[in-house]
Amino acid sequence: MLWFFNKMCTSQACLRGKTVVITGADGGIGRETARDLYGRGARVILACMNMEQAYEAIQDIKNNPPSRLNKNEYKNNAGEFAIYSLNLCSLKSVKNCAKSLLTNETAIHILINNAGVACPLYEKTEDGHETTLQVNHLGHFLLTLLLLPKMQKSSPNCRIVNVSSVVHIFADIDFDDINLERSYGSFKSYAQSKLANILFTKELARKLKEANLHGINVYSLHPGIVATGLLWHVDKVLFPGFRFFINNMIGRLLYKTAEQGAQTTIYCSIDEEVANETGLYYSNCGIATSCRIANEHQYLEKLWNVSCRLLHLNPDEDFTTILETVSRQLH
Ligand SMILES: NC(=O)c1ccc[n+]([C@@H]2O[C@H](COP(=O)([O-])OP(=O)(O)OC[C@H]3O[C@@H](n4cnc5c(N)ncnc54)[C@H](OP(=O)(O)O)[C@@H]3O)[C@@H](O)[C@H]2O)c1
Repeated sequence: MLWFFNKMCTSQACLRGKTVVITGADGGIGRETARDLYGRGARVILACMNMEQAYEAIQDIKNNPPSRLNKNEYKNNAGEFAIYSLNLCSLKSVKNCAKSLLTNETAIHILINNAGVACPLYEKTEDGHETTLQVNHLGHFLLTLLLLPKMQKSSPNCRIVNVSSVVHIFADIDFDDINLERSYGSFKSYAQSKLANILFTKELARKLKEANLHGINVYSLHPGIVATGLLWHVDKVLFPGFRFFINNMIGRLLYKTAEQGAQTTIYCSIDEEVANETGLYYSNCGIATSCRIANEHQYLEKLWNVSCRLLHLNPDEDFTTILETVSRQLH
């Protein structure tokens, strides 16, 4: 990877006593994020679909430090792990996961909404939503609202980090057909869901401020082009031959390893530099510019309203009432 695209998070933050929830933490960027935060002493919760893979990830993380630490430093600062089952394709699973987290965990300081898919074919979840939209946006939207009261109790200095993508610049959202029933394309649905991550970040930050709920900041980011399972999906569904390109010399200059790809997530989750920022979009460990649509008030509000309706919430209610209503869905 060319060095100027590859800034590393240089924060020395220690996370002892902090609890971090990471969705999709058993592979790719999520696993490397978990490795780094575990090496800073955090209680790292892997919210994952595949339990076997999650246990394997824990063994791998325990045995192999991130490149910034040697084995002794890693051992001396190590945190702890827990695994919770989460399948974002099922809103019932999201609720069960949230319920278990709220019951078992005394605090949640950092929530990293990292899991993602790019479905090659049109699929609907058991809840009737287009799968990429639900996994990448709607499931995380619900999980976040459900965990917010616990984060509020754990604040100040809490953070919610939404892993988006630069491909959001190619997206628009058809609010009359957000499930893309009339015009599905795998790239279209993935880009739409990544735009939704940024819109959700901005609107949530605004709603928290408006409701005078301080001490929880919200961030969205592009990790870079990272050689992970998700990227190989891109080869199949978006640009055939992409894998060949990425594996050749030019590709190698452009893509990041998963550890490099985790740096902006880590930066947004812990770096002191961004402790007073909220609602912004980051790339390469710095603030980046999101596309014009991602800043339009009308889009922010519309996405919030549509997402609430899809989750049977009334968007006209004020934010604290919505949080109370969504919490009641757990009982
Ligand atoms: N790689 C890139 O170049 C790139 C670029 C921009 C943005 N991103 C974003 O970065 C994030 C991480 O992606 P990655 O590249 O690390 O891909 P990855 O290696 O495929 O990891 C994705 C993770 O999400 C999990 N996941 C998928 N569907 C899920 C579901 N229904 N419920 C719960 N977890 C689910 C996967 O679990 P399983 O392994 O069990 O399927 C996996 O742990 C995604 O949000 C992606 O959009 C990636």
